[in-house]
Amino acid sequence: MTGAFYDGLAGTYDLMFPDWDASMARQAAQLSEFIPLGARVLDCACGIGTQAIGLAQCGYSVVGSDLSPKAASRAVAEAFARGVSLPAFAADMRALPFVDDSFDVVLAADNAVPHLLAADDVLAALREMRRVLRPGGRLILSTRDYDTIRRERPLSTPPSVGPGRVVWFQLWHWDGDRYELEMFQLHEADSWRVVVSKARYWAITRHELTELAARAGFGYVEWLLHAYYQPLMVAPNG
Ligand SMILES: C[S@@+](CC[C@H](N)C(=O)[O-])C[C@H]1O[C@@H](n2cnc3c(N)ncnc32)[C@H](O)[C@@H]1O
Repeated sequence: MTGAFYDGLAGTYDLMFPDWDASMARQAAQLSEFIPLGARVLDCACGIGTQAIGLAQCGYSVVGSDLSPKAASRAVAEAFARGVSLPAFAADMRALPFVDDSFDVVLAADNAVPHLLAADDVLAALREMRRVLRPGGRLILSTRDYDTIRRERPLSTPPSVGPGRVVWFQLWHWDGDRYELEMFQLHEADSWRVVVSKARYWAITRHELTELAARAGFGYVEWLLHAYYQPLMVAPNG
């Protein structure tokens, strides 16, 4: 379900941002505070490249992978169009196709990990991220603020308007601590064209994710609530 959701979104994902290139630059500037100069970075949920391309433009050596083959191949093309190199592959973060100790930093930004709906799946992903990190490397991931969201249990997101007059909004259908997200895109053409797609999330709290990171072998986990547009988890590997 998740791969098909993002394959379907790959062509229009950038239209969620008022200015995608400006968002890429801003997010890369914020994330680079936590990434040493010259680091080899794996973005294991690169999507169409919002963080990976921005970081490559900052001079990092970045590799991307993502569950959605269409998103990963668009990331390669968008990087090429901007004059930077971004090798990117289709891969599940629970089974990363990289050898042990390959990267200085592993990144999974913008709420990718909560697509995994069971603790065992999150644990498998965190173990894989740790396996491909060199000792002393660093895991960086961001999620929605589910500590707040679990209390408030919103039923929708406010509408936003992207370039080309695309209106976006989401309806959230709760089932315990999980929810189904129904994404609406309204494209203004000769008449309005409406696209609806669905994905599922676990509204995982920072405490739950920290415990799973500890079980995966990360000895120390820090959460930064104001360094990025989502809460950011930073965990050194050893
Ligand atoms: C909200 S998008 C963010 C994408 C990208 N980081 C960005 O901000 O443009 C979440 C991404 O996580 C990816 N994803 C979800 N589950 C995954 C999994 N099990 N393995 C790898 N990627 C996954 C999706 O395909 C999607 O591209």
